[in-house]
Amino acid sequence: MRLTIRDIQKMKTDGEKIVMMTAYDASSARLSEQANLPMLLVGDTLGMVVQGHASTVPVTLDQMIYHCAIVTRVTQRPLIVGDLPFMTYSISPEQAMQSAARLMQEGGVGCVKLEGGEAVAPIIKRLVTAGIPVMAHIGLTPQSVNQFGGFRVQGKEVASARQLIRDADAVQSAGAFAVVLELVPTKLAEFVTARLSIPTIGIGAGVGCDGQVQVFHDILGLFDAFIPKHTRRYAEIGTLIREALSQYRSDVQAGNFPTEANSFGISDDVLAMLQSELTDGSR
Ligand code: KIV
Repeated sequence: MRLTIRDIQKMKTDGEKIVMMTAYDASSARLSEQANLPMLLVGDTLGMVVQGHASTVPVTLDQMIYHCAIVTRVTQRPLIVGDLPFMTYSISPEQAMQSAARLMQEGGVGCVKLEGGEAVAPIIKRLVTAGIPVMAHIGLTPQSVNQFGGFRVQGKEVASARQLIRDADAVQSAGAFAVVLELVPTKLAEFVTARLSIPTIGIGAGVGCDGQVQVFHDILGLFDAFIPKHTRRYAEIGTLIREALSQYRSDVQAGNFPTEANSFGISDDVLAMLQSELTDGSR
């Protein structure tokens, strides 16, 4: 049985930390489910770690649907959150409804995530009223990187901290079932977490959040353009892959691969017949 937003909210009430991981394809989704992660985010970070863009801005709704459909197809238990990409929900509530409906109907996700606080609260309300569960995302909202002028910590000054609190209150009042806090000082994230009844999921927001989300490629060492301060490398899979590929190249060049164990035989009778036919010139 797939987990629901209620199961995730109960984890906050029960004091159980919520662990979310991004997943973009069959391997990342299957491995995350095997590790018993309750919630997977098909994040538009795929624009950076899969597509090689410098930001998430170029990602389209069709691309998100494609990746959401893969992740939902190969998993049974985790709640799948589908990210609404840049400019697919902020033009009008109608546009947001159409985009979210496509992520749910074609991508199969159980809820959507969108970026923004007070400003998008009316859109969140409209989606929730229509039966679409919404995870909000405040603090550093990467789709606005061009507005922020970089991936910077948010809420360090009084005015921006006050705004963050207003954003948190607004998305909760609008009906969001959970909220991502990205690049927010630890103490401020703790304050928001205590203030809200919905779960906070931190990324670069300290240990006091109700849960954490990380990017699959970051924690496994698969993304080496830069290492965000908020991440921890739990494995260096990129190094292992590079070593394995170099070994493969050397083996092929030296004639050490494939061996008989990787090859297929043919019976001597068949070979003898072919040889005699070819020597006869009858074929
Ligand atoms: O797109 C994404 O992966 C995200 C996480 C970084 C929270 O929004």
